Amino acid sequence: MKTLNLGLIGVGRIGTMHANNLNALRPQLADRGLEVNLWITDVAADYARIVAAGLGATFFDSVNAMIEAGVDALLIATGTMTHPDLIRAGIAANLPVFCEKPVAGDVESALPLLEEIAASNGRVQIGHQRRFDAGYLEAKRRLDAGDLGWIHTMRAVTGDMVPPSLEFIATSGGLFRDCSVHDFDILRWLTGKEIVEVYAKGSNNGDPGIGAAGDVDTALAVLTFDDGTVATASATRYNGAGHDVRLEIQGSKSTVVVGLDEQSAMHSAELGVEFPTGTSHQTFIERFDGAYRAEMVAFIEYVLGERENPCSAWDAVAASRVADAAQESLLTGAPVAINPVPVA
Ligand SMILES: NC(=O)c1ccc[n+]([C@@H]2O[C@H](COP(=O)([O-])OP(=O)(O)OC[C@H]3O[C@@H](n4cnc5c(N)ncnc54)[C@H](O)[C@@H]3O)[C@@H](O)[C@H]2O)c1
Repeated sequence: MKTLNLGLIGVGRIGTMHANNLNALRPQLADRGLEVNLWITDVAADYARIVAAGLGATFFDSVNAMIEAGVDALLIATGTMTHPDLIRAGIAANLPVFCEKPVAGDVESALPLLEEIAASNGRVQIGHQRRFDAGYLEAKRRLDAGDLGWIHTMRAVTGDMVPPSLEFIATSGGLFRDCSVHDFDILRWLTGKEIVEVYAKGSNNGDPGIGAAGDVDTALAVLTFDDGTVATASATRYNGAGHDVRLEIQGSKSTVVVGLDEQSAMHSAELGVEFPTGTSHQTFIERFDGAYRAEMVAFIEYVLGERENPCSAWDAVAASRVADAAQESLLTGAPVAINPVPVA
């Protein structure tokens, strides 16, 4: 049995989810001759010691202590502002790194890091989990096979049921950087095309605190791709029907919809139509449960050299650049052209 020491940094909301998923994957990994040792560190040490005990993981009091003990790869699930320094620590120790999105708090501070990653041949996978979701994968397969014909319209939707805390909103970078960035990433990944312009609008009809924190509770971005194709990406913090993530891709031959199933967060207004009959997802963790697990398997395969990087830091920064431009358009009221991310 081969052993892999995975060092998880940050056991908050998403870090704990990844740790639980890695535990759930143990039998599947064992079938492949792999045993994962989960090592944990977090600045909130007392809390993290308790979490580590509950997970059957080993607590370390710093990232350096994990590196000195022989960790094989790092999983960064800390707050956004800490990502660049922790990625740097990983590549300096020549370790493969998985880091939650985004690469950095803003694109300008991510650009020098992209150069450092390239210069050191750093292995850095960023957490855009939709790339591992069964529905998006099937949509890509049909798109690549030409089943839809040529694409004329795409409509992406991300709806949270309830807003996060105002403290989180104040440091989130806004709805486009926090939520729609996943749609921007998946639209680039699905089409293989660049988004060259964005025009954004937003509204605040919910908690006035969201506006006071400088954000909007609902927003829409009109995206133009490099071949002229248009798409929309809408997001809201107030989708009472459930956590709603969908994408309609309409082509000259056919249309495919990701996220249209018995758990879709919607009701038909047509008489006699019962679909969908299931209970809608309540959170992104429920909606993307399978995708998050597949993302961890993909990272392990990347660490073992069994696959290419499924989501590079460069790709993630390209999606963040669209989010930055959407935020700028929201504030200025004008369309914003998007410069390509330089290749390091
Ligand atoms: N891919 C997704 O769908 C998705 C979803 C949610 C969050 N995220 C991203 O995950 C990251 C974490 O979000 P969260 O909601 O889990 O945050 P969180 O605040 O719940 O957890 C962060 C944890 O990191 C710890 N921490 C902070 N700085 C640290 C440091 N320097 N060293 C060690 N530990 C440190 C904190 O004590 C905390 O326990 C964010 O960047 C967010 O954008 C991604």
